Amino acid sequence: MSESILSVLDETRVFQPPYNDRTAFQSMADLQAIQQEFSENFEEKWRQLAEQNLQWRKPFSVVLNESKAPFYTWFEDGALNLSENCIDRHVQQGLGDRTAIIWEGEPGDVRRISYQQLLDEVCRAANGMKQLGIESGDRVVIYMPMIPEAAITMLACTRIGAIHSVVFGAFSSHALRERIHDAGAKLVVTADGGYRRGAVHALKPKVDEALECNCDTIEHVLVVKRGENPVDWQAGRDVEWRALLDAQPAQCEALALNAEHPLFILYTSGSTGKPKGIVHSTAGYLLWAHLTMTYSFDFRPAEDVFWCTADVGWITGHTYSVYGPLSNGGTTLMYEGVPTYPDAGRLWKLCEDHAVSVFYTAPTAIRALIKAGDAWPEKYDLSRLRVLGTVGEPINPEAWMWYHRVIGQDRCPIVDTWWQTETGGHMLVPMPFAVPTKPGSAALPLPGIYAAVVDQEGEPVTEGGGLLVITRPWPSMLRGIWGDDQRYIDTYWRKFNHRYYFAGDGARIDQDGYFWIMGRVDDVLNVSGHRLGSMEIESALVSHPAVAEAAVVGRPDELKGEAVYAFVVLKQPATENLKSELLKHVTQEIGAIARPDDIHFAENLPKTRSGKIMRRLLRDIAAGRDITSDTSTLEDQQVIQQLRDQP
Ligand code: WTA
Repeated sequence: MSESILSVLDETRVFQPPYNDRTAFQSMADLQAIQQEFSENFEEKWRQLAEQNLQWRKPFSVVLNESKAPFYTWFEDGALNLSENCIDRHVQQGLGDRTAIIWEGEPGDVRRISYQQLLDEVCRAANGMKQLGIESGDRVVIYMPMIPEAAITMLACTRIGAIHSVVFGAFSSHALRERIHDAGAKLVVTADGGYRRGAVHALKPKVDEALECNCDTIEHVLVVKRGENPVDWQAGRDVEWRALLDAQPAQCEALALNAEHPLFILYTSGSTGKPKGIVHSTAGYLLWAHLTMTYSFDFRPAEDVFWCTADVGWITGHTYSVYGPLSNGGTTLMYEGVPTYPDAGRLWKLCEDHAVSVFYTAPTAIRALIKAGDAWPEKYDLSRLRVLGTVGEPINPEAWMWYHRVIGQDRCPIVDTWWQTETGGHMLVPMPFAVPTKPGSAALPLPGIYAAVVDQEGEPVTEGGGLLVITRPWPSMLRGIWGDDQRYIDTYWRKFNHRYYFAGDGARIDQDGYFWIMGRVDDVLNVSGHRLGSMEIESALVSHPAVAEAAVVGRPDELKGEAVYAFVVLKQPATENLKSELLKHVTQEIGAIARPDDIHFAENLPKTRSGKIMRRLLRDIAAGRDITSDTSTLEDQQVIQQLRDQP
């Protein structure tokens, strides 16, 4: 257990929500009232919400179909179009001039895109993709910097029923190739490059490299010119974005799609093998992206400027940089670059310059900014901020307090949102202005969400820790793993015999029913809020010719939350440069985000008699603490001493 979690266990501070007479949820009683409606008639409440908040082309009659559980479906006989819900309906209501996206590039260039302009550009992009042969159901991989064209491409896909799969730009060409291959994508949309830390980070060359093998399904590469860096051009395959779009009409009929039509695939790390392609549906996902903007942030489309700092390569960027704010007809800010470029005041300068009122980021960013000192935020006018959110990893109470005091000026509620790629949107949140907050706790399930902490047998635990489960289906739940139904069942449903959704997190419930997330209980690492699989990094290491065996664990880290610690057994004695060579190798295989912080050459790995690597023991060694796990099943007791002797 990490230090920050230990301090969370003693946390007793409670902050009452500020009074706000304009929000729908002003007190715990308001939350309880809607929960009561759900409990009395679960499906009826979801029906109302889906009818009131989405624009349907064909109304649905079935709310939830459980007959093929755990392959649940929602609103399955309805039809709608996501881009129409995110754009056209606002233009039709006379909001065409409202700013949909404010974008700032790292060098400081700014673009403001109105709903009307967004509609025109999304239509052109959709027509362009159709010209490239993309049809409903085809997969489109998006490998882009944080530029408006990333959001435009996502929306254009939804307009014509193409299934997008965004791959984070920091993943390597190798990782990109695996995802293109698994998804069987027909098109990659990319950019020449984008700005990071004052220089252009090239992307197109990585696409070229990825396509060298195993990507036969790709017919075209659509390239946005952003970095103006020179790139190779393959005639016939590569198409320039502007040239393609300028030749298209600004109208494109939005397809009426079934509610369950797959909306996107997003790859995420699991505890075994290769990343899994999480599949989300159209209506259920959109409904929850839409509603949680109000529930979790008290979002007011007509006046708020919403900024979620996540890259669209992650689920947070999907739901809260793009779909949630736009579905509500609000203004979302996108920023291209590094948060500390050119200095540690950049985020706060962006907040001031664009009058950001709802700000949503990760604890790892907060910790880095704390370290930079209070002078940075104090230089800027942050008085427009009214709600602050965090996501991605447990927030340590001290970081929470700083966020509350220095950024929120004791005025803004802090919403610690617990959720996952698989859940599509928020699950546990202290609703701002309704629910008292406790530093380090994600508080309570949102309306319509039913969560519990249970023991290994699935029985609720009242004291101490247990496993976090979701006990009833919800509209934005994942619909499966792309191409692997069995893995979906095994990963999320087998553990509790199909009764509960198993999240993979440990948690504790306190006397007030508040949830305290204690981190993953599987072999998934959380490095700077980014999810990485131990086994993925291990396979990358083992694919190097010098490595016989590897075991990767997380080590508590003050800034990143968890650091990557790799135990490596070599085939022959280490050469001088081997460590840096291995780091380079992992960067090539997965990407720089997975690069180990520590490499520990070991003679042997601790294993049980049945040959299983004892990771808990390795975690203790990595953290430099006493061994807390039971070592009686260890095959060779000397291994521990050897590992301690040769750090
Ligand atoms: C962790 C990110 C504590 C958790 C949205 C989860 C959190 C994993 C929180 C999902 C939080 C996310 N407090 N831990 N507020 N939010 N996590 O799929 O371990 O990238 O299972 O989704 O991040 O990561 P993912």
